[in-house]
Order: sequence, then structure tokens, then C-alpha cells
Amino acid sequence: MADIARYRPEDQRQVETLYRRVFGVGSAEANRLRWDWQYRHNPHRPADGPLIWLAKEAQTVIGQYAAMPVKLSVQGEDLDAAWGMDVMVAPERQRKGLGEVLFRTWDRNVGASLGLGLSDSSYRLFKKMKWPDVGPVPCLVKPLSRRALRRPGWSVTANRLVSALTLPWIRLVARTRPLRGEISTIRQFDDRFTRLWERVAPQFAFAVRRDAAYLNWKFVQAPHVRYSIGVLERGEEVAGYVVYRHAQEARGRVTLVVDWLTAPDDHDGMLTLLRWVDREARAANSDKIRAFAMHTAFRKLLKQSGYFSVKSTMEFVSKINARDVPSAFYASTDTWHVTLGDSDQDR
Ligand SMILES: CC(C)(COP(=O)(O)OP(=O)(O)OC[C@H]1O[C@@H](n2cnc3c(N)ncnc32)[C@H](O)[C@@H]1OP(=O)(O)O)[C@@H](O)C(=O)NCCC(=O)NCCS
Repeated sequence: MADIARYRPEDQRQVETLYRRVFGVGSAEANRLRWDWQYRHNPHRPADGPLIWLAKEAQTVIGQYAAMPVKLSVQGEDLDAAWGMDVMVAPERQRKGLGEVLFRTWDRNVGASLGLGLSDSSYRLFKKMKWPDVGPVPCLVKPLSRRALRRPGWSVTANRLVSALTLPWIRLVARTRPLRGEISTIRQFDDRFTRLWERVAPQFAFAVRRDAAYLNWKFVQAPHVRYSIGVLERGEEVAGYVVYRHAQEARGRVTLVVDWLTAPDDHDGMLTLLRWVDREARAANSDKIRAFAMHTAFRKLLKQSGYFSVKSTMEFVSKINARDVPSAFYASTDTWHVTLGDSDQDR
């Protein structure tokens, strides 16, 4: 039987080898680039090292469960939670119960165990272990150009016909609308963002604590992506921010709305941030804008801004351990704030 122990720096080489075997050379390279930032520099990293458990057999690493510790606000109370990620079992050891042992070790040690954007195998394991399934996180897209509606499975003629027919509608949806406030861009989050979080947190039944330390780590210091940050200021304070980036995908250019925060009832604030992103996306020549949003009020405002729902593949599971919550807690996620910026989804 395998021994389960916390990760130590001397395990690193074996962990990298296992990662290559399970996820492939390309993913392993990307993982190496992110590793220090993701596991060592997290502001919530425990004093005794990264929150990673290894399964070993006679000193050989045959499995890993890595986690990203965060503070989670649940109905106004902060819990020590952790997103599960980079979970793997050596191919020849899979389907023998080791994954379940690793999942349970993680779950026993955190105040809330959270999973986002799961692979098919881990999603099935979560299901088998009866984790509350609260996903997927809804995905919304706003088209900006005719190319936004292209489908690779359609013929050139079909794509041209759809483009021609939908052009007037896309022009209407994508038209420029006035900003209702002053937006500036920043390179660093300061204490005003912690105060914004403190003001709005009680309005979310579930959200990762978005204070300045977390935001700087997550969206300023990340080594693998470069984000832009738009901020809505009102007097001395900030009323909201939006984090976004532009990317080239196989089907065209997309602007990703990665994360944001405003009071959910601050309609003008959220609409202004979205209109700012519209301008930035158009300036970057994007064909569409994509956002993932759980909170009903934010989704409503996204739809008002020209976004429409598409199928989401971002599965989401969550289990609160540190306090009792009724099963109804998981049934109503209308005031949960979860975005693409959560966990390690944007990578
Ligand atoms: C996910 C993973 C860690 C599970 O480890 P494991 O040791 O195989 O898991 P266990 O033996 O404890 O549990 C097996 C259960 O997991 C699910 N499962 C695991 N692998 C599966 C697969 N390839 N297809 C479908 N279900 C799978 C099933 O529910 C299975 O139950 P069953 O055997 O009764 O059908 C392992 O499959 C793995 O390394 N996968 C590749 C990497 C990966 O996808 N990581 C997750 C990133 S989010």
C-alpha cells in the first residue's frame, strides 16, 4: 500500500517526471514555468510548505494531489479552503483506489474542498465520492465580428450565409455604448481593493476572498499570462475592477473576461466595466468576448450588454467542511461569485 505524505523539495524531480508521464511534455513544461508562483508564492501557502500530498511506494512517487489554498467567504464567514488541481496517479496504478485516497486526504485537511474545470476522470471520481455538484459555471459570449459565429464543421458556403444573415444583428449587439464612469488601468492592486472586498463580501453566499494580496499574486505576478486591469473609481475609493486578456484561438481572436468585482447591485458600475472591455476588445481586433459567471445578477448584466449563453464545459464541485451548511446551500448558487479567474483555470 502506498504511503501518503506532504511534498518536500527533494521530491521535485520525481514529481516532474510523473507529471510528464501523466499530462505530456508540453503541459509539464508549462507547469514548470508556473510552479514556484502557483505553489510557493501563494499568499495563503502554509508555513510548512506547499499544500501538496504525494503517494509513495518505496520512495517512488506514484501519485500527487496538489491544492491552491484560498480564503473562502461563505455567507459572510471566512474559511480556509483549497482548490484541488494537478491531481495525478501513475498510469499503471490508476483505477485501484489511490485517487480516492488522495482526494480524501486533501478533503480531511481543508475547511472547504473545491474543484473547477475537471477532467472526465476526476469529475467521475468526484461523482462516485458524492461531492456536491454545483456546476458547470455558465459561459457567456458576446459576438463582435462576423467571424464570431464561424463553425469549423460547416462548409464555406454555410459559414458565409450565416455571416451575411447575422451581420445586422451583430452590428446592433456590438455597437459602442457610452461609459457611465471613469475607468483607468492599473499595474498593482492597493488597499482600496481590500476595502472594496470588505464592503461587498457579505453580498455573496460563496466567493474566494479577493483582497489586494490575493489579486496581486493571482493577476499581477502570474508568470504565464499577462493581464490588463480596468478600475472604476468613485472619489477616493474604487467601486470595481475587471481583469481581462486577449488570446488567439483556432476559430479567431477572443477577449477573455477573467475576473471582476463590483457590488452585485451596482448595475451602473458593472455595465461601465463591461463597456470598457468592449472597447478594449474592439481595439485588440477580437471577434468575440467570453466570460464565465455564476452570480445571477452579473449574468443578467452580461446579457443586457449583448452576451448570450453558450454550453459550458467548466465543471464545478464544492464541499464545505469547516461549518454545517444545509443541503439547500448547494442547490441555490444564484449569489455565488465564481469566474474563469478562480482556481488555476486560466492557464
Ligand atoms: C483522476 C485520477 C487521479 C484518479 O485516480 P485513480 O487512482 O484512477 O482513481 P480511483 O481508482 O481511486 O477511482 C477510480 C474512479 O475514478 C473515476 N475514473 C478514474 N479514471 C477514469 C477514467 N479513465 N475514465 C472514467 N472514470 C475514471 C471512476 O469513477 C473510477 O471508478 P470505477 O473504477 O469504479 O469506475 C487518475 O485517473 C488520473 O491520474 N487521471 C489523469 C490525470 C487527470 O485527469 N487529472 C485530473 C485533472 S483535473
